[in-house]
Amino acid sequence: MQHMSDVSVIGLGQMGRALTHALLEHGNHVTIWNRTRPKAESLIQEGAVLAENAASAADASPVVIMCVADYEIADSILKTEEVVAALRGRILVQLSTGSPQQARESEAWARARSIDYLDGAIAATPVQIGKPNSTIFVSGVQAAFQRSESLLKSLTGNVVYLGELIGAASAVDLAFLSYLFGSMLGFFHGARLLEAEGLQVASLGPMIASTAPAIGAMMKNSADAIARDAYEHPESSLKICAEGVELLLRQAQETHINNEFPKFATHLFGKAVTAGYGNEKAAALMKVLRADAH
Ligand SMILES: NC(=O)c1ccc[n+]([C@@H]2O[C@H](COP(=O)([O-])OP(=O)(O)OC[C@H]3O[C@@H](n4cnc5c(N)ncnc54)[C@H](OP(=O)(O)O)[C@@H]3O)[C@@H](O)[C@H]2O)c1
Repeated sequence: MQHMSDVSVIGLGQMGRALTHALLEHGNHVTIWNRTRPKAESLIQEGAVLAENAASAADASPVVIMCVADYEIADSILKTEEVVAALRGRILVQLSTGSPQQARESEAWARARSIDYLDGAIAATPVQIGKPNSTIFVSGVQAAFQRSESLLKSLTGNVVYLGELIGAASAVDLAFLSYLFGSMLGFFHGARLLEAEGLQVASLGPMIASTAPAIGAMMKNSADAIARDAYEHPESSLKICAEGVELLLRQAQETHINNEFPKFATHLFGKAVTAGYGNEKAAALMKVLRADAH
């Protein structure tokens, strides 16, 4: 089948525009569509072709990348008779952020309509797209991945294919986001702590950046312990960590600052100590998380 372009991008928000720009930079012919037109203008100047509607965009290329705010919005665009007809036999790459369950539902929907489906998750900001150190996780049928791999590699130097289990890309992305947002909360509390002690906050950023490799090594060690379910011989025990967290709560109380983050952390570490894991590695806190299911 003769296609008008190599790839279509539906959704031209901050991320969709960055993806399109990177695809164009790599010499691809790109068709684009967005609900509102102004965001397409600069990309048209760069050589992208604006489709009249989402169905025409889907029809124009063998690979169709979707990047809108969320899956509900993606569904509202995709689930029309015209778009489904246009997508049949094509590869739909869903790069909007969602949950593993949303990925499973999307794949089942696509499969029932003879649309090849890949689910992806972008672990990068728009300015990092097209750069070697940004990461995109992808899961889905291997043959579809292989057919779109070179296009996806235009978007980032690090396309991580996680296999055919369709929920894997969003699960890994959410695990990464869990780590990111957990660290952010701790960082913001740390900044507030410094403010309350009359110290400069600006120095906290470079200090955290310089310790990042050591923290990364600690996380690798924790992941290994959790994978083996083996928490003996700690270098710093769970009890030591729990005491550190309690000090955060104490300082917050002494200076009357917001104490939600230390309270939350003290509660979880406290549960692990009460359960008898104090002399094990901090990663033994995983046993508390496993015991708590809703
Ligand atoms: N920005 C980041 O740093 C980042 C990083 C990783 C992943 N992501 C993911 O990438 C996806 C897009 O993010 P973004 O930063 O590009 O967001 P954004 O700048 O807010 O753009 C949102 C996109 O969704 C479209 N949209 C919103 N509501 C719509 C509706 N009711 N009907 C049709 N289209 C609608 C917008 O169209 P209009 O232009 O017409 O409003 C626009 O194309 C999200 O899932 C986000 O989680 C973003």
